Amino acid sequence: MTQQFTAVAHANTEKWQQLDAAHHLHPFTNPKDLKNKAARIIESAQGIYLTDSDGNEYLDAMAGLWCVNMGYGRQEIIDAVSAQIQQLPYYNAFFKTSHPPAAELSALLAEITPSHMNHTFFTSSGSEAIDTAIRMIWRYWDILEKPEKRIIISRKNAYHGSTIAASSLGGMEDMHKQGGIIPNIVHVEQPYWFGKRCETGADLDAQEFGREVAQSIADKIEELGENCVAAFIAEPIQGAGGVIIPPDSYWTEVKKICAQYEILFVVDEVICGFGRTGHWFGSDLYDLKPDLMPIAKGLSSGYLPIGGVMVSDRIADVLINQGGEFNHGYTYSGHPVCAAAAIANIKLMQAENIVETVRETTAPYLQKRLRELSDHALVGEVRGLGMLGAIELVKDKDNYIKFDKKRGVGAICRNHCFENKLVMRAVGDTMILSPPLIIQKSDIDTFIERARKSLDMTQQTLA
Ligand SMILES: Cc1ncc(COP(=O)(O)O)c(C=O)c1O
Repeated sequence: MTQQFTAVAHANTEKWQQLDAAHHLHPFTNPKDLKNKAARIIESAQGIYLTDSDGNEYLDAMAGLWCVNMGYGRQEIIDAVSAQIQQLPYYNAFFKTSHPPAAELSALLAEITPSHMNHTFFTSSGSEAIDTAIRMIWRYWDILEKPEKRIIISRKNAYHGSTIAASSLGGMEDMHKQGGIIPNIVHVEQPYWFGKRCETGADLDAQEFGREVAQSIADKIEELGENCVAAFIAEPIQGAGGVIIPPDSYWTEVKKICAQYEILFVVDEVICGFGRTGHWFGSDLYDLKPDLMPIAKGLSSGYLPIGGVMVSDRIADVLINQGGEFNHGYTYSGHPVCAAAAIANIKLMQAENIVETVRETTAPYLQKRLRELSDHALVGEVRGLGMLGAIELVKDKDNYIKFDKKRGVGAICRNHCFENKLVMRAVGDTMILSPPLIIQKSDIDTFIERARKSLDMTQQTLA
């Protein structure tokens, strides 16, 4: 980069930072922090790399926010969006109207989702999909004349979105502290073996732990009364909660419990859907057979905002044939341009056999290389599955002792990652990754190199 260009770039950076600091309220950010340290301005991106307004290039190991599955700059999606915006930039799906993109996308989703799911209700985000699922659950039981079935069981540390209903359903204490939770939501334990191991100091058998945590759902149903419980909701793998991969015994047991009781099973696929686990859906990986399945993010690889709820045939039959009008919907439900982006994205995934490539080639390589980081003094556990991973930073790896939260070790490591041109996220002291599915083996090598360097630098900072 020439000196002149660098100077211009810096001037632009300052301009954007000033405008941003003066007028932009950011999600999940302490606004005061942005006064002390200006926002990083991302200006462009290609493949799996982001470029900031000073020309620095970062490997985006978070795929944006777990969403840019097919990578940045895909011409097929850009062209589809451009054609659709000229043909029909907007029309709604209310009052018995539709348009080709919404119809085509719903058919495509019926093809790729589990075979018992053949209907979609469209939304613009994951949070709206969760709100829609809640309204559908309650509507379903009302139609069946069981209005007392209202309680939805969710899990601690789950993330289901940021609307009032979605944040209530999620299990994030810091969100509940700001506004509480709506009625009829109850939280049970999460299958976080490493966390429990550190917390109790006990030599915990993972499979037994998985069964016990699953059993707590059945216990909760018994305590509340089956006649009052409407549904259980879970992510196949908790994402924002720290990439919590349950022991194998967990889902085996939960499936039995969901079949045993008369409750709906909602599987939130907002992160795990669209290839992230090396299967089209987390439900395919664990054979979960959900009644409802919220989707978003990877549906359009994040190119445009679109989400939805996949509805199983059993539930659709009640809603369609017995329910009458469902008084619910969004101006942008099935937005034609967003739907066109999603169609192009899914077709691209199919044309490139990306799910198979992830499952058979790149994810096994990522997981193998990721586990090499286990030898680092700061690393207590490395876990991962498909294109998801977590690196737990601990004070004493031999004795499962975590750092004092106040030290902010995860944030220190995340900052070093940025210095090393790597985007990884910190959930407490857990570094998490969810790279674009198109990541190649050579990029994975670059990722590991930068991650190790960042760990070393974190260790030096703490010394
Ligand atoms: C599992 C899960 N569900 C729902 C949501 C909410 O999606 P959105 O941010 O699009 O509203 C998220 C967002 O990260 C998520 O991870």
